[in-house]
Amino acid sequence: MAKKQSVAKEANEKVLAKAEEVKTTKRTCAKKTSGVKTVSSAKKTTKAKTTKAEKVAEFVEVKNKKSVLFVASEGLPFVKTGGLADVIGSLPKELAKRGNYDVSVILPLYSKIDAGLRDNFTFIGNFNVALAWRNQYCGLYSCRLDGVTYYFIDNEYYFKRDKIYSCYDDGERFAFFSKAVLDSLGFMNFYPDVINCNDWQSAATVIYLKTLYNDKFGFSQIKTLFTIHNIEYQGKYGMDTASDLFGFPEWAYDTVEFGGCLNLMKGAIEFSDKVSTVSPTYAKEIKDAYFANGLESVICANEHKLCGILNGLDLDLYNPETDTSLFKNYSISDLSGKKECKKELQKMLGLPQRDVPVIALISRLVSHKGLDLIKAVLDEILYEDVQVVVLGQGDCDYENYFKYVEGRYNGKCRAIIAFNKDMASKLYSGADILLMPSKQEPCGLSQMIACRYATLPIVRRTGGLADSIVPFNLNRENGNGFAFTNYNAHEMLYVIKDAIFTYGNKEQWAKLVISALSSDFSWEKSSASYEEIYDSLAGDKK
Ligand code: GLC
Repeated sequence: MAKKQSVAKEANEKVLAKAEEVKTTKRTCAKKTSGVKTVSSAKKTTKAKTTKAEKVAEFVEVKNKKSVLFVASEGLPFVKTGGLADVIGSLPKELAKRGNYDVSVILPLYSKIDAGLRDNFTFIGNFNVALAWRNQYCGLYSCRLDGVTYYFIDNEYYFKRDKIYSCYDDGERFAFFSKAVLDSLGFMNFYPDVINCNDWQSAATVIYLKTLYNDKFGFSQIKTLFTIHNIEYQGKYGMDTASDLFGFPEWAYDTVEFGGCLNLMKGAIEFSDKVSTVSPTYAKEIKDAYFANGLESVICANEHKLCGILNGLDLDLYNPETDTSLFKNYSISDLSGKKECKKELQKMLGLPQRDVPVIALISRLVSHKGLDLIKAVLDEILYEDVQVVVLGQGDCDYENYFKYVEGRYNGKCRAIIAFNKDMASKLYSGADILLMPSKQEPCGLSQMIACRYATLPIVRRTGGLADSIVPFNLNRENGNGFAFTNYNAHEMLYVIKDAIFTYGNKEQWAKLVISALSSDFSWEKSSASYEEIYDSLAGDKK
């Protein structure tokens, strides 16, 4: 015991000496770096004499604020495969704008990140990360953008791949990332008040923090929020990986085990101080087996830590007034450009330029997006005087199906099997109706983008769709879209027909469009809710 204490004391002293070294250089560097937005000067080659402490000090500022670090596997503007990247690209920015927290984000340094962006990264240093019996190189880079500090974990063996996910060794790649995050903090002597981890890829950061790092200087007081963007993907591996791959201590096995497997999401839910999901309705839904993909008992047992906060939208990124992909820009005060957008879209797709409702489906083509419902009644939808445009890729069954329908309904239906942001913008702006009948939707972004582009969404009332869309068809007075409740194709068809009918009433439709455009999908309210959670975790610490 006494030996343990003296070792700990020695370690503490070492760290404190290191902290003093960093602090001194911080003061000298503070002047040099103030006002710097994007750092491109301190390149490895040109600043060979810069010490590690100086480099760290460029990014870890002298603290007079509380701090939060986001850990995620993707984030705009660096890398995106789905909605998580939108959140990581916008929430930290908004929190930084509020000014109460020092905000940083840490991501893997994928080779897919654009070279133009990488040119602005500064190399901070390198060290090794122990992962069970492995000992792996880790490089640490950084840059500042929009008031947020971004860190990047470099290891080409893990991240120089032609895809972000779905590699045979994803478990090992993200175990490495999750642990490297904590070692980076130790390396920089930077201990944020709160770490906000996101989804299974960074779940192990919570587990490591509360197990292997819990007694380490600097780490013990860090609090954690674990955000679930989608409970479907949990990070499940054989229990043998607990020691051989992740290197978790044996006493934690029970906590990370679920149904005979190692389950990273379960471990993070159990170990984190608070848990959030991306909409209030989804937070309620995942207590139920229908939505929880097996984790309902874990969610219920941790209900006291759980809350739901609706995602916002990056209103600068999705803006019909400035979006350069649009045929013509428009705004709430002058919607004439939207009519142009529709005509040009029809022309581009070879559809007759008629004033009929254009119904868009912009989605990953996978089952939980509700495509079975569409498949069941698409003939009946196309029987109406409408045009249907599909944009997306995914399961080849759906891809083939939509191509087949396009062939059968030439002149009424188009299927573009691709993921293309430019085309998506053209479709959001050129369509009248967006169809989003998801079986499950933790939050969903497309319904918000549609409203922002004056296109009315038809959604199923689940998760974030229920929290963001007020259905006109239910109250016949106001609303920013249409909705149905049960996962039933004909219930959906009935609402689609209602929307087509309402489209015929130009005055009514125009009112709904204005109310869609006026929906508040900013991050303002939601970022304040995140801050409340951080405050409750970080306490009064200044
Ligand atoms: C996931 C969810 C989606 C949510 C996004 C961002 O992709 O499936 O509903 O909008 O995360 O939180």
